[in-house]
Amino acid sequence: MNENIAVIGGGQMGSQIAALAAMAGYKTNLYDENKENLDYRYKFVEENIKNLIDKKIYTQDKLDNYKNNLELSYSLKEVTEDKSFVIEAVVERFDVKLEIFKEISQVMNQEVVMATNSSFIQASELSKHCQHSERFINMHFFYPPIRMDLIEISFPDNISDNILERTKTVSKNMGRSVVVLKKETPGFIVNRMLAALVDEAYELYDEGIAEFEDIDLAIKKGLNHPLGPFELSDYSGLDIHYYAKLKKFQESGDPKDEPKAFLKDKVLNGDLGVKTGKGFYEYKKD
Ligand SMILES: NC(=O)c1ccc[n+]([C@@H]2O[C@H](COP(=O)([O-])OP(=O)(O)OC[C@H]3O[C@@H](n4cnc5c(N)ncnc54)[C@H](O)[C@@H]3O)[C@@H](O)[C@H]2O)c1
Repeated sequence: MNENIAVIGGGQMGSQIAALAAMAGYKTNLYDENKENLDYRYKFVEENIKNLIDKKIYTQDKLDNYKNNLELSYSLKEVTEDKSFVIEAVVERFDVKLEIFKEISQVMNQEVVMATNSSFIQASELSKHCQHSERFINMHFFYPPIRMDLIEISFPDNISDNILERTKTVSKNMGRSVVVLKKETPGFIVNRMLAALVDEAYELYDEGIAEFEDIDLAIKKGLNHPLGPFELSDYSGLDIHYYAKLKKFQESGDPKDEPKAFLKDKVLNGDLGVKTGKGFYEYKKD
């Protein structure tokens, strides 16, 4: 194991990505600007791992590795110190991600992998504003990362072979199936397919054709999906759908791409789905 990993952003994704890295045996540091959230997530993921051990999905060594290899950091400077591999998983906002990468790419060694877990922002959009653009890559996990067996990898044309190979190695060592895209595309494979389904569900709801609960029920029963599109939106976070849609609208100017008013209202109200206890549905805080 020759990578030291920094995960930036300790929300629902980052906290579990850091756990995957630590469980795989990598020395890992996790940073979030919200200390309270970071401490809460650390314990929450620990409980999740214990749960998976009880269910015989994980063995005890995973928990030992989590505790021994994962350290929390309370500043960007601290989390990136002496690291060879960065995975960014902060909020899905281009300006926030860019500010982080601009700052760290100036001070970190040129061999450091700069991976983003963004759902829709491509590595080339970030790399072109940063130093050593050949080390930027998308490493796209799925929620919840400690359960979901897939990482989609995509990269700008000028990527260095070394960065790509090391990203594939870390992904496989995390025990995940890996799909490497031949070209960059916002949303990769899975989210492009999913967006088509969710957009149509939002359209049906907006037109008043059916209640969202009934649209979910129809998709679950009629297509045999485990979750309906509104449930899935709540799980991934309504802010992620909103900002992705907003970005598309700002780029295309096409009214069809404008985020729906009901989605905007929920996001501005802080009703982001499971992580805040309320989205389309209500949830008990985990
Ligand atoms: N939720 C999903 O299903 C999913 C799946 C794949 C990828 N993603 C991507 O993962 C990223 C994170 O999503 P999430 O669901 O974990 O969101 P989240 O809201 O749970 O977590 C985001 C975290 O970023 C932190 N943050 C914000 N600004 C920061 C900064 N400047 N420095 C450090 N921390 C900062 C917040 O405090 C928060 O804890 C997004 O880019 C999203 O597109 C999400």
